[in-house]
Amino acid sequence: MKTVLVLNGPNLNLLGTREPAVYGSETLADVERICQEAAQRLGLEAQCRQTNHEGQLIDWIHEAGRLCAQGEMIGVVLNAGALTHTSIALHDAIKGASVPLIEYHISNVHAREAFRHTSWISPVARAVMAGLGVKGYGLAITALVQVTGAASA
Ligand code: DQA
Repeated sequence: MKTVLVLNGPNLNLLGTREPAVYGSETLADVERICQEAAQRLGLEAQCRQTNHEGQLIDWIHEAGRLCAQGEMIGVVLNAGALTHTSIALHDAIKGASVPLIEYHISNVHAREAFRHTSWISPVARAVMAGLGVKGYGLAITALVQVTGAASA
């Protein structure tokens, strides 16, 4: 069975207690359950990881690039948190690893502070989705299957 990698960056381990008016009351465990269910429906296995460290995200994206090239993984759903708005290193990693990737944000970043309107991820993402809450992770997995033309196997 092919895999899909779901990566969550800084502070997303605090989901459930962090600014619930913005991010809702569901936890990272709920996100992972939503991803597993969506992946299963599509005949895939979701691997969900979270880190507060930029370098760890970069290493995982490199690894995903290798697994995609080997046909074992279809791509990545990435919520890079605030690194979205600052990290040229993540931009370069996604480009360098040639990994199909959906950028996802729980909140509608474009309806928030101006500093959240810029993304270093968007130019190297296959698609960008935001503002659909935690359920949007499942929609992002479906979108990744669509844009990559990945057949379930
Ligand atoms: C976020 C939006 C970012 O601006 C913020 O820094 C986050 C979460 C979201 O999911 O809405 O940490 O990526």
